[in-house]
Amino acid sequence: MGSLGKKENKPHVVCVPFPAQGHINPMLKLAKLLHFKSDFHVTFVNTEYNHKRLLKARGPNSLNGLPSFRFETIPDGLPESDLDSTQDIPSLCESTSKTCLPHFKKLISKLNNAIDTPPVTCIIGDGVMSFTIDAAEELNIPAVLFWTTSACGFMCYMQFRQLIEKGLTPLKDSSYLTNGYLETTIDWVPGIKEIRLRDIPTFIRTTDPNDIVLNFALGECQRALKASAIILNTFDALEHNVLEAFSSIDNLPPVYSIGPINFLLKNVTDEELNSIGSNLWKDETDCLEWLASKEPNSVVYVNFGSITVMTNDQLVEFAWGLANSKKTFLWVIRPDLVSGKNAVLPQEFLEETKNRGLLSSWCPQEEVLGHSSIGGFLTHSGWNSTLESVCGGVPMICWPFFAEQQTNCRFCCNEWGIGLEIEDAKRDKIEILVKELMEGEKGKEMKEKALRLKELAHDNAYGAFGSSLVNLDNMIHHVLLLS
Ligand code: UDX
Repeated sequence: MGSLGKKENKPHVVCVPFPAQGHINPMLKLAKLLHFKSDFHVTFVNTEYNHKRLLKARGPNSLNGLPSFRFETIPDGLPESDLDSTQDIPSLCESTSKTCLPHFKKLISKLNNAIDTPPVTCIIGDGVMSFTIDAAEELNIPAVLFWTTSACGFMCYMQFRQLIEKGLTPLKDSSYLTNGYLETTIDWVPGIKEIRLRDIPTFIRTTDPNDIVLNFALGECQRALKASAIILNTFDALEHNVLEAFSSIDNLPPVYSIGPINFLLKNVTDEELNSIGSNLWKDETDCLEWLASKEPNSVVYVNFGSITVMTNDQLVEFAWGLANSKKTFLWVIRPDLVSGKNAVLPQEFLEETKNRGLLSSWCPQEEVLGHSSIGGFLTHSGWNSTLESVCGGVPMICWPFFAEQQTNCRFCCNEWGIGLEIEDAKRDKIEILVKELMEGEKGKEMKEKALRLKELAHDNAYGAFGSSLVNLDNMIHHVLLLS
């Protein structure tokens, strides 16, 4: 610990997540690893809005940090909104890319001028916060981008330019969304034998050449080429072919796969550091006690992540699908899951399932997925959720919502054999899939495969030769410590 008034000699990394839950979580874990493993001084930069949300969810002292693990904020450029809901993602993409850079530069200069803080020696920005590269360039220090997606998802984003050049997107008109066009298969994506257009990140499903998110994704992929390195939260045994294929992309900097980051983090034994959390909603932990009273592999866990929204009719279909399966379930319904209003579940459903269903609004998901009572996960296929499920050895039912969740779903169901896709979210279909997952032959096979992947994830994260551990060390020594 440095005393006030004296600059320390530590390397100083500034970490800048994209301001959404699925991005803040893995970035915070990476920051903790760098602090614990290699004694980096860390500055973790949230948006002002998320800083307030974290304080509200986790308590007024939750972001005090440690002497060399500190929190700072920059504005996100959006108007003030209430602190309880997910911000609109296209608006966030547009506003962060347009407004954050000057605020970020000002922050870096404040840090460099502070008498008790070591000078900034490297910056790790989220893959879609690439303005961080400009600040790093000015200081002539390494700029690393952490794409918090799967490797297959990132690879598909990197094909957006070609998809446009080949005339596959934007779509000619909106009938292409429903006329079977999205079933078209392409076979030229490096490391992926074939993939349907519907499995490519959803931002290609537009008819507008000026679509905000399509162009934002294009721009961020182009800027990935300017980074000193790319980090991915995945592991070699899971995505070997895609990871290897990155070497065929011209000018792409070295890609380091260092996942599953939550497994690597288990080596971190500093309790103060571990107590720093990043949940934007208040955790409801009573589900853990409830799970402890259940038989092994008996509970279906249902959670659609931090961004998915659905109609109340869809919610009701899920409710009856679960009820009719007769399985025990833990269902997390985020306060803003249903678009435009509060979720309303039928009284008969609540009556019928009161002895075998637990409803919650936000839970400690990693602990839940690591619990022996969980037999299957009905998920939106967000990458963190998918990887956390792999770490728990839990097979999935996938109902992807947007972005590269479609790609993750495809890989879960077709490549890794640990997922069943919901094509049509109607109660009968959901009931059949839940039964198959929890007691069918396919479900058993998926469980075995998921357990095998969990072992492989473990091997990658632990031991002197685990590839993720080696990659993390290499990234630290060959990139971050270079300035
Ligand atoms: C997703 C994708 O991951 C991201 O890559 C994409 O670009 C946008 O959508 P999200 O919906 O947040 O983001 O899903 P996910 O990646 O699964 O992240 C959710 C995180 O919140 C997980 O780490 C999960 O453990 C945590 N969580 C979620 C909880 O801790 N409790 C909950 O009740 C729900």
